[in-house]
Amino acid sequence: MRTQSPQGSRAALLRQAMVSVAPRLKLVETFIAKELQAGPEPIQQTGSYVFSAGGKRLRPTLLLLASRLVGYQGEKDVRYAALIEMLHTATLVHDDIIDHASLRRGRASANSRWGNQLTVLVGDWLYTRSMELALEVDDLEIMRLLSRATMQMIEGEVLGLSLKGRTDITVEQYLEIARRKTAELFAAACAIPALFSPAFAAFQSILADYGRNLGLCFQIVDDLLDLTGDQDQLGKPVFSDLREGKLTLPLILALPKLAPEQRRAVAEVAREGSFTALRPQELQEWLVQAGALAEARDVALSFGEKAATLASQLPPGFERDALAAAPWFVLERDH
Ligand code: IPE
Ligand code: IPE
Ligand code: MG
Ligand code: MG
Repeated sequence: MRTQSPQGSRAALLRQAMVSVAPRLKLVETFIAKELQAGPEPIQQTGSYVFSAGGKRLRPTLLLLASRLVGYQGEKDVRYAALIEMLHTATLVHDDIIDHASLRRGRASANSRWGNQLTVLVGDWLYTRSMELALEVDDLEIMRLLSRATMQMIEGEVLGLSLKGRTDITVEQYLEIARRKTAELFAAACAIPALFSPAFAAFQSILADYGRNLGLCFQIVDDLLDLTGDQDQLGKPVFSDLREGKLTLPLILALPKLAPEQRRAVAEVAREGSFTALRPQELQEWLVQAGALAEARDVALSFGEKAATLASQLPPGFERDALAAAPWFVLERDH
């Protein structure tokens, strides 16, 4: 008989929670579909193509769970969950242009299908429409939080781009990029429900910190999957970060332990934008030998554990257990 690891059973808790918020997540999908249909024809076409390809819907799920956790009973959660997913999708379509990625969610990326010009505009439309959706509710505090998170995300991408090709990037710089480009949106998704009523305000900072740590864990796992995952499972290219000149945590940790000629080969891939100096499998072996994959995973785990500890300070119940389990879902994921 196959027994489930504690990690596996913890991750299963979030999957159960996803089932429990499924009816509201369905409303989120309908909300987004309606928004897209109201846009001009090219937005309808490109937007529904990207949204219907799937995606884990992790950020809206977290927002819906946090809403229930604070005891919110109204309808605003659906709108904010939808706009968070729209914001996230805007970053993905722009990110794929920046990263020259041809695959996203198992399909040809929007940029490879429709070209950069239209795809930039689709991203812009999604960003702006998300902000309008927040404006329609007229909650200045949430607007401020959202525009801050968006600004951080863009600054994270800018910082990442400015360090492109650099093999001297530090762990601190890497974490700063990950925090900005990914973790702040997780923080916003988790903290927004605390602003639905002054009665929930006490939860805001724990939920934001929880989301930030979960987001850091998430980005490190994403970067590990780029080096160890399977393209078909992931639905996006593998070994693409180094090819794009972006050194992620496993590589940053491995570099000091590699021989000078190995370091030169890594630098050449980053500079040339192709794996000619080195085969991807060879790189994987070097990373394993240097213990860098395990070390990066430990760093992801420590952010995940921090998130789980923060979740344990929230009011008890099914939602809290699900939030506390989310890091294990993230650590276990293969896509
Ligand atoms: C991808 O996010 C971008 C990162 C922050 C690494 P997801 O892995 O959540 O993408 P989808 O929405 O599930 O496709
Ligand atoms: C995350 O970084 C991108 C954003 C948060 C915008 P990645 O470049 O690693 O994301 P993927 O791997 O393309 O999904
Ligand atoms: Mg990318
Ligand atoms: Mg990635």
